[in-house]
Amino acid sequence: MKKDKTESAVPEHVAIIMDGNGRWAKERGWSRLKGHEEGAESVRVVVDACRKVGVKYLTLYAFSVENWVRPKAEIAGLMKLLDKFLTDREKDLHENDVRLRVTGRIEDLPLFVRRKLLKVMEATKDHKTGQLILALSYGGRTEIANAAKQIALLVKDGKLDPTKIDETTVAEHLYLPDVPDPDLMIRTSGEMRLSNFLLWQLSYAEFYISQKLWPDFREPEFLEAIEEYKGRRRRFGDVK
Ligand code: FPP
Repeated sequence: MKKDKTESAVPEHVAIIMDGNGRWAKERGWSRLKGHEEGAESVRVVVDACRKVGVKYLTLYAFSVENWVRPKAEIAGLMKLLDKFLTDREKDLHENDVRLRVTGRIEDLPLFVRRKLLKVMEATKDHKTGQLILALSYGGRTEIANAAKQIALLVKDGKLDPTKIDETTVAEHLYLPDVPDPDLMIRTSGEMRLSNFLLWQLSYAEFYISQKLWPDFREPEFLEAIEEYKGRRRRFGDVK
């Protein structure tokens, strides 16, 4: 367990549940998609703010495994928006030395967006300053169940002694084993739920709930969350 993070440091990894796009649009009598479009602008702003303050990893919950039950038109609109975001932002990722990654079941996504993701991930794979991680068709329980399956197969093939399985073994079989656990989890729109997001990785994260809806969560709101995090004492089960 990592215990070397002290108070007042900028979080190395921030994970965000971007909630409230639909409500933001509804308040204005607009379509839900308009809310997602404004949400994509918040994504741009927050990615930029991470670079400014020195957050190295940013994981965004963009589409959950549960989101597939939404109306077809909304799903199609979200996929198009994601495609457009990647087209518009690829240059920025290169200029700022940011690597794009995906966590989740990328194989569930429509071919056009999957192709675009794979292309941008490949083109940015050597960038080192930061990582933008999009959680897409992501579910925390699915991820842990998948790790359990991989581990069971290793045991079955005689490649792993089951008595040696520990936390490290499980962590090594998650989708992105090299990414450090988030230090800070932000959720917008005032909801106090984890919604199946990074269940394993968020064990020791600090939570910050913003009352703002995601399209209204911009640089000042993000900086406020970072400032609040800096003032928190992280004890990791110890008595400090
Ligand atoms: C939650 O709001 C938001 C989503 C399910 C999708 C998030 C997508 C974006 C911010 C835009 C595209 C993403 C990228 C990475 C460019 P909600 O629709 O559940 O809001 P509600 O709870 O008010 O209905």
